[in-house]
Amino acid sequence: MNQFETEKYTLPLRVLHWLTAVTIMALLVVGFYMADIDPDAPNKYELYPLHKSFGMVALLLVMLRLPVRFKSGAPAPASWLENWEKQLSHLVHVLLYVAMLTMTWSGFLMNSTFPYVNGVEIFGMFTVPDITPKSEYWNGIAHTFHSVGAWSFVVLLALHLGGVFKHRVLDGKEKDVLRRMI
Ligand code: HEM
Ligand code: HEM
Repeated sequence: MNQFETEKYTLPLRVLHWLTAVTIMALLVVGFYMADIDPDAPNKYELYPLHKSFGMVALLLVMLRLPVRFKSGAPAPASWLENWEKQLSHLVHVLLYVAMLTMTWSGFLMNSTFPYVNGVEIFGMFTVPDITPKSEYWNGIAHTFHSVGAWSFVVLLALHLGGVFKHRVLDGKEKDVLRRMI
């Protein structure tokens, strides 16, 4: 094995990584867009059911990904990384997991505590029931977590993508970490 060879993440983890990545990045874009529409505009709530349905898909993916990650583990960090790069990427990965859990559960809890809806309708096919009593107070707390979580996610994603870009483009092709995830 030459000095720039590296192990890949397991196939289930790679598949789950890309499914969650695409779903969550779309949720971030749609979420910011729909929340910014004027409350009096006639189309204000058109995107909400779609956002909630895909949000629940993300919740399912994240709850599947965590046990798979614990069971199969991650490959050792690429050997050519500096110590600070290993530590920073590990920290960002842990925080991305925290952000995924925060965003999915705060969304579900925001809906569950919201006094004016019952359950989350999934693509108009079936309804996931509420898991809490209704409460304006707890709805506000969940809403705060969802909004602060969304901006934290953007910062973490910028760091994550910055790291991938650095190792793929700036450090030279043989030091590319993207091949560990594809
Ligand atoms: C990883 C999953 C999710 C992501 C990345 C995400 C992202 C976002 C973002 C960026 C916003 C706009 C925040 C703001 O500007 O204040 C938002 C709002 C919202 N999200 Fe999510 N969301 C996710 C999951 C969910 C789930 C599971 C539900 C409900 C079942 C949900 C329900 C809502 C609602 C109702 C709003 C609008 C809040 C308002 O009108 O102020 N989200 N989401
Ligand atoms: C919402 C979007 C994303 C999230 C939540 C996310 C999350 C994560 C997490 C948590 C890990 C660590 C893997 C583990 O220990 O299970 C990881 C690894 C990785 N991600 Fe992402 N990711 C996202 C988007 C992307 C995108 C768009 C790219 C590529 C452009 C990417 C490239 C990678 C690579 C290359 C690794 C492996 C890093 C290494 O260990 O060398 N990710 N991602």
